[in-house]
Amino acid sequence: MDKFKNKIFLGDCREVMKKLPENSVSACITDPPYNYEFIGHKWDDKEIRRRVERVQNSKTLVKNIPYGSGLSGGVRNESWYKKNRNNIIEYEDWCFEWATELFRICKPGATVLVFNSTRTIAHVQVALEKVGFYARDMIVYRRSSGIPKGINMQRKLEQKGYDNPEQWDGWHSCLRSEWESICVLQKPLTNNYTETLLKYGTGLFYTKQDDGGFQSNILENIGRDKSQKFNVHCTVKPLALMQKLVDIFVPKVKESLIIDPFAGSGTTLVAAKLEGINYIGIELEPSYIDIIEKRLEAISDPQETCSLF
Ligand SMILES: C[S@@+](CC[C@H](N)C(=O)[O-])C[C@H]1O[C@@H](n2cnc3c(N)ncnc32)[C@H](O)[C@@H]1O
Repeated sequence: MDKFKNKIFLGDCREVMKKLPENSVSACITDPPYNYEFIGHKWDDKEIRRRVERVQNSKTLVKNIPYGSGLSGGVRNESWYKKNRNNIIEYEDWCFEWATELFRICKPGATVLVFNSTRTIAHVQVALEKVGFYARDMIVYRRSSGIPKGINMQRKLEQKGYDNPEQWDGWHSCLRSEWESICVLQKPLTNNYTETLLKYGTGLFYTKQDDGGFQSNILENIGRDKSQKFNVHCTVKPLALMQKLVDIFVPKVKESLIIDPFAGSGTTLVAAKLEGINYIGIELEPSYIDIIEKRLEAISDPQETCSLF
């Protein structure tokens, strides 16, 4: 197993995970693409850039939410729903595929955390339950901001010249999206918590907070990172959030090993390294591997770490 530790693999995680030994991973903390229209289509540098630019050049699409997430546009009429209904079912099937390999390589009691949008998380959870994990919880990551997206009906009617638009003051097509969901699943224990903990170092959550309180399943007041020019990834998670998740879900013992099969710019792996835990990262897009390596290399030099993170 040592030859896989602290390595980043380029490729489709469904294939790469097949090469990893069974019962070897203690935890998975991952943030797969939410935008299920990508599934089965090209996910390459050119396509990612095209979509990011499309969002940046638009007044109506929301920055940093890749097109296709469903939050960034789309008229919810019957034909939209028919198309999206199929997309979400394909997305669930795709989750089932990678989760099947993930299940095989997880140790008994291993915890799996998967980020997703509030609209799609249920499908991710069901796919993971179908491969054999069982659902433990749903974490609310409450962001520091959340701008309203969608249609402001009063403004829409004003623009179109309708009479009495103020009648619809306050009426919108959606609520302000202020939280992201993280589903928490677990591979079944060997027998009970004690045996699983002693044999595999898995199964439990760290609940003691600095102020003496008991850890809740709502995470909030997480600081933002300084932006880094070289990190051009469009969906970077806050490092403090990923460190918090590592702290809660992965014991700091030498056997612990975290995998992120959708590493992106490597925030999970950076958090693992900062917490002194071994990791494995997988990423499909070659240009992101350079970003991950640059972030990880910086950790050995504390001064550089400050400027990079
Ligand atoms: C939402 S991003 C992860 C961002 C990451 N949490 C961060 O903070 O940088 C998802 C990543 O999964 C990668 N990806 C998509 N499909 C993949 C696959 N089948 N195997 C491995 N990586 C994949 C994408 O290239 C993208 O970088």
